[in-house]
Amino acid sequence: MPGTKKVFVKTFGCQMNVYDSERMTEALAQYGYTVADTPESAELIVLNTCHIREKAAEKVYSDLGRIREVKEERRQAGKNTVVAVAGCVAQAEGSEIIARAPVVDLVIGPQSYHRLPELVFRAQSESRRIVEVAFPEEDKFANLPARAATVPGTQIAPASAFLTIQEGCDKFCTFCVVPYTRGMEYSRPVAAIVAEAESLVARGVRELTLLGQNVNAYHGEGPDGATCSLAGLINRLAEIDGLERLRYTTSHPNDMSEDLFAAHRDQEKLMPYLHLPFQSGSDRILAAMNRKHTADDYRRVIERLRKVRPDIALSTDIIVGFPSETQEDFDATLALVEEIGFAQAFSFKYSARPGTPAAKIAEQVPEGVKTERLHRLQERLEAQASRFNEGCVGKIVQVLFERPGRQAGQLVGRSPYLQPVHVEGAPEYLGRVIPVEISAAGMKSLSGVIRAA
Ligand code: 5AD
Ligand code: SF4
Repeated sequence: MPGTKKVFVKTFGCQMNVYDSERMTEALAQYGYTVADTPESAELIVLNTCHIREKAAEKVYSDLGRIREVKEERRQAGKNTVVAVAGCVAQAEGSEIIARAPVVDLVIGPQSYHRLPELVFRAQSESRRIVEVAFPEEDKFANLPARAATVPGTQIAPASAFLTIQEGCDKFCTFCVVPYTRGMEYSRPVAAIVAEAESLVARGVRELTLLGQNVNAYHGEGPDGATCSLAGLINRLAEIDGLERLRYTTSHPNDMSEDLFAAHRDQEKLMPYLHLPFQSGSDRILAAMNRKHTADDYRRVIERLRKVRPDIALSTDIIVGFPSETQEDFDATLALVEEIGFAQAFSFKYSARPGTPAAKIAEQVPEGVKTERLHRLQERLEAQASRFNEGCVGKIVQVLFERPGRQAGQLVGRSPYLQPVHVEGAPEYLGRVIPVEISAAGMKSLSGVIRAA
């Protein structure tokens, strides 16, 4: 539509930010905004930021430097631009961003996204700079518009979508900023989640990944007024016709409840894949991290999962070089990795996050030691991922096709174990679950041949 305003959203960090960016774009679409491909062509630029890793804030400031040039060029061409910083850096830095970056008009925390269109309008019409990082009383989800029929700015109705069901975390691991940036645990009511899931399925979605910072602690209000667990929610969502697959992420080992094990055993739509961070294999470090579990507790959870779902593929998060981590502590992490065997894993060098308890521990591990440990760990994890993928060669796996591949005639989908699978195939397979015989494997993906129509 000529004359409509355009928004450019740049998303950093986790899947929750991807989801939030979609919801922000959909909220703005109601006020006439369409999606811009470049910041140069946008009246509104939103940076949806992540604060989990070191220098995250610095990266945002350097991005803002470039955006300042864009805004200036647009100004010289007689065009206005509103620049908004959203996400966890916005929440953590608040008015500091306004002070340091004159280009920014609006700082908006994740709990206020339902107010984004109004705040953009106010920033513009009142020519003032706004900081909105409170934790409001009202439920932002209830105040965001219903999901759009396609991904904003595209004609695409993807086969797989994220759905945030829970936000915040009460665990206070000593390295983590999440309890400060996303606040205390909040679970959305079942009815609201079911309604959103149904609208996504009507859009063509076949797989939902339920998101939350601590998703298996989910305890939302059920339709009968009683509290519903994650397993209860999964079973309810599985009743939706047309929805074929369910996943959830990210979880804490202590919140793996009885009924969740049962769901992994009985619920066919729940995929045999679990991302379950253990962070360290050393009990001393786990205690210093305030994880409230031991390495043995983690082993027991995995043992139970494998008992109920022998083919379950595991993924995890690991931190190396947490303050005071010795060679022995690190060896315990390597040993746990060897023992469990992961299909996929994310590993990080510890980085001090200002305001978290671990940042105050005196015995920080030297950078060179962290680098060396990370390298050794990743070698092991990469070998495990390759081994897991190679084990699929010759097997038939059910693949949900999500998008065309880079080359013409190619399609890309995902196996139940979340591996990307590349095939030659016609576009009509998109959005469908099709058996594929796996012919080759790499560290990150598989390729194969479609075996049935
Ligand atoms: N340093 C390094 N890694 C971190 N993570 C969270 N905070 C830090 C930090 N301060 C990692 C954890 C978490 C993942 C999302 O990011 O492993 O599970
Ligand atoms: Fe952060 Fe996860 Fe620990 Fe919560 S459970 S504090 S989100 S690492």
